[in-house]
Amino acid sequence: MLESKSKEAALESVAGNGLLHRRIFIAQGTALLGAGGLGLLTPSLAAAQRLPNLAKVPGKSMSGYGNRSPYEAHIERNNILSYPGTTGSGGSWTPLESLEGIITPSALHFERHHSGVPDIKPEEHRLLIHGLVDRPLVFDLDALSRYPMVSRIQFIECSGNSRVGEGALPVQKTCGGLHGLLSCSEWSGVPLSILLDEAGVDPKARWLLAEGADSAAMTRSVPMAKAMDDALIALYQNGERLRPSNGYPMRLLLPGYEGNASIKWLRRIKVTSGPTMTRNETAEYTDTRPDGSSLLFTFEMEVKSVITAPSLGRSMRQPGLYEISGLAWSGAGRISKVEVSVDGGKSWGLAALADPVLSKSFTRFRAAWRWNGTPAVIMSRAFDESGAQQPSRKQLLEARGLKRNYHYNAIQSWKIAANGEVTNVHA
Ligand code: CO
Repeated sequence: MLESKSKEAALESVAGNGLLHRRIFIAQGTALLGAGGLGLLTPSLAAAQRLPNLAKVPGKSMSGYGNRSPYEAHIERNNILSYPGTTGSGGSWTPLESLEGIITPSALHFERHHSGVPDIKPEEHRLLIHGLVDRPLVFDLDALSRYPMVSRIQFIECSGNSRVGEGALPVQKTCGGLHGLLSCSEWSGVPLSILLDEAGVDPKARWLLAEGADSAAMTRSVPMAKAMDDALIALYQNGERLRPSNGYPMRLLLPGYEGNASIKWLRRIKVTSGPTMTRNETAEYTDTRPDGSSLLFTFEMEVKSVITAPSLGRSMRQPGLYEISGLAWSGAGRISKVEVSVDGGKSWGLAALADPVLSKSFTRFRAAWRWNGTPAVIMSRAFDESGAQQPSRKQLLEARGLKRNYHYNAIQSWKIAANGEVTNVHA
């Protein structure tokens, strides 16, 4: 398919089984691909002459609030579950395999509720800050909206995300079905540190309690250092007011922390000397170790990556050049590099990181692969600026046993069959 020997030489192999140098995705490198370079069919003139001519037909009118194309309506959150006997305690998963870039559309942001989505009238909602402060304060939405706001692109991941990977047999679900308790948005709101400074925090205060207005009264303890660092009272998501299922009219946002701690429908912050030891940080969201003891307050989501394409449901076609695309993220900061293997982990090559590479955000990575049409196992592993490396499944399970249900960040592998079909495998 490639036109010249120089182009051929530019597609240098960097690891076994046809993984190519990432330069293809850097600067003008994509020009090397040329028409048809990724195995796409070059359109013929005959095909072009059959294009429908819609230009003579008046289209639809404008609308007050936009909708996506009806031809995309099958792209939905999946695994939607509600525990028996409840109306809205459960979750729904973002279809990661159907999305590109790093922003999750608000309508596809994952959901995890402990007692459904409350119907909150914005003019009635209040945020109370009290406890070990000089001046207890109450904010309504109007008052909060007058403070200086900041916008940040941050991921949120449920600490139970990907936990099916612990099972002895690989579960056959899409990338989003396996890993979709994970989304990334631009969040805008008021830094919590500004409000705490205004309230006047007692020097003895080391923690705070954050409480939601849902009927589960979700409550978590948060270290004061985090509250003063990058915690946000988020009012906007991807440019518009929060969606009800993401905490309307206001939520706590703790970048890089397990999602449950970013309390939705936030109504109260109590400044305290120590952690409150609420139900949701003692009976749940703790990590039981092989000896039966449990770790409390394991907030940070560790470095991780997933390949979104090719993946289950996004099969390969004929042999040729393909782009491998995926997401990497870390609660510790920026992604420093991502490596990809297309020979089951025997050899690895660097993936290209797409701009922007932001702290505690999604990073999109890409790699080029010349698939020869024989069965192959592909996988990715991410590294972050703290020096941490995404572990293999074997390493993770050996290190912490099987009693731990949270913070599963192991490498996941896709097997490509000779016919191009993709399945989840434990490699
Ligand atoms: Co945890």
